[in-house]
Amino acid sequence: MTPLARLDALPDPCAIVVETEQGGARLSLILTRSGDRVSAFRNKCPHAGYPLQRADGRIVIQENRYLVCSAHGASFTLTEGACAGGPCNGDGLERVAVEVRDGLVLLR
Ligand code: FES
Repeated sequence: MTPLARLDALPDPCAIVVETEQGGARLSLILTRSGDRVSAFRNKCPHAGYPLQRADGRIVIQENRYLVCSAHGASFTLTEGACAGGPCNGDGLERVAVEVRDGLVLLR
């Protein structure tokens, strides 16, 4: 398993971009935290396929519950990656399995 972040380094709530590798291929992920819940999604918006962060690398969070794609404003729930508004038309983010062990968030 690949370590992605230290749990205590993740603010609550947060959505950050993490670059890693899986099977020799580069993988851009969004790592989110909401309370005790840590989730990961592919950093590819289902609307038009863009990564979700702004030019400065940050991902906008609204109302402590949603992350917002910087391209056209689609919003997704932090914990499930479900479409919550905007042009995603009901399509959510693709979840990637992670687990927290010994204070580390690990890619499964
Ligand atoms: S690519 Fe994300 S809202 Fe269009």
